Amino acid sequence: MPTTHDSGGPAAYASQIQPAKGKLGVMVVGLGAVATTLIAGVEAVRKGLAKPIGSLTQMGTIRLGKRTEANTPLIKDFVPLADLDDIVFTGWDIFDDNVYEAAAHAKVLEKDQLEQIRPYLEAIKPLPAVFDQYYVKRLNGTNIKTGKNKMDLANQLRADIQNFKKTVSRVVIIWCGSTEIFLEPTAVHDTVEAFEKGLESNDIGIAPSMIYAYAAMKEGVPFANGAPNLTVDLPFIQELSKKNFAPICGKDFKTGQTFIKTVLAPAFKARMLGVSGWYSTNILGNRDGEVLDDPESFKTKEESKLGALDFIFQPELYPDLYKDLYHKVRINYYPPRGDNKEGWDNIDIFGWLGYPMQIKVDFLCRDSILAAPLALDLVLFLDLAKRTTGLCGIGIQEWLSFYFKAPMTAPELYPEHDLFIQSMKLKNTLRHIMGEELITHLGLEYYD
Ligand SMILES: NC(=O)c1ccc[n+]([C@@H]2O[C@H](COP(=O)([O-])OP(=O)(O)OC[C@H]3O[C@@H](n4cnc5c(N)ncnc54)[C@H](O)[C@@H]3O)[C@@H](O)[C@H]2O)c1
Repeated sequence: MPTTHDSGGPAAYASQIQPAKGKLGVMVVGLGAVATTLIAGVEAVRKGLAKPIGSLTQMGTIRLGKRTEANTPLIKDFVPLADLDDIVFTGWDIFDDNVYEAAAHAKVLEKDQLEQIRPYLEAIKPLPAVFDQYYVKRLNGTNIKTGKNKMDLANQLRADIQNFKKTVSRVVIIWCGSTEIFLEPTAVHDTVEAFEKGLESNDIGIAPSMIYAYAAMKEGVPFANGAPNLTVDLPFIQELSKKNFAPICGKDFKTGQTFIKTVLAPAFKARMLGVSGWYSTNILGNRDGEVLDDPESFKTKEESKLGALDFIFQPELYPDLYKDLYHKVRINYYPPRGDNKEGWDNIDIFGWLGYPMQIKVDFLCRDSILAAPLALDLVLFLDLAKRTTGLCGIGIQEWLSFYFKAPMTAPELYPEHDLFIQSMKLKNTLRHIMGEELITHLGLEYYD
């Protein structure tokens, strides 16, 4: 039975939260650049070789009560998160490289750094993947499961999860696999029955990522989706997620250009400045860039990247400012840069009486260095959600929108893209489950 976590706050609002006892098993789908940077990074932090920069769960604080109370604990001391020392990694990939070899191939982390943790990384070898090149045109591997149909493959994944469960206390799955071709939901995704029939008949609308998500849901395991694929953004998955207490969230890590976009756009809107054009382009040379060079995979990414501005600007409410906004996103595969992406934005804005101005952003970032801490936070927060009565049975974890380019919401809601609304939503959710007062930033009480 869940036990009440003693928060000292008003118990009426407190959720029941089971303690984070024992090992947390993290199963990563796709042991590429992001995943290996996550795994190597966690081990480097555990060994005291580096700091977990960029991770809210590891470095973030949360204010409790009034500003005058000076009560700002670390988030990891406030909510019962799994300790990094208790994380155990495994994963699936279509290539049979161990995590050391895959990290060396990805060239995100320096060789010297990898050597310091080499034996640990070499010991993590990928399980055979569920893969079909129809859904990711630019990849071809050999470490792939075979089966008589997609249901058989789903059952093999369930067996992998069950085996791993025997070695740890709890399991979370995160998709760090490639971006699949653009797919739209069809009748096969409406209900669990329809999907299961589709698995038996090898329905073409069922991509590998959905088979992993289905297996996770059937095993009651939380699932985060770091790519723009539909994966868990489907009605039948949401049904299973609620039924089997397997929290879900997605989609597409918000790391570089969209992260900056969802900081700048709310600023223009807050000041009622107009925007007539936003041109975003990227050069990227890693395997992700190669996969996205295929127009069908790019379309999936494009949809995910385009949504944010429309939702933030609400042109229907502010036609004078945003009705005619021209928004374009480009990703160009450019091998010399590897994982070190460059993202340019040209933003045409206008102010008082319509006078035009321009802003240029040139973000020379490191894709996986930005993504790895998000992946870590997501697995820790999903594990928390699984142990929390108020969260485990609600399906979509909208409070984790903070991490995503195309955040999932209940069907009748529009997503919140503004990074600071997302941050407030996340922290208020933590206060809420711990029975602390929410922070509204009203502040009139200081002037009574
Ligand atoms: N790095 C970022 O900033 C960022 C931001 C947002 C989203 N993403 C997304 O995260 C994902 C991972 O990015 P990355 O840079 O690590 O890419 P990557 O190409 O280095 O790694 C992806 C890995 O997934 C494997 N894979 C593909 N299909 C698979 C399947 N069905 N089962 C198991 N493994 C499979 C590939 O073999 C590869 O090793 C991509 O979809 C990317 O679009 C990355």
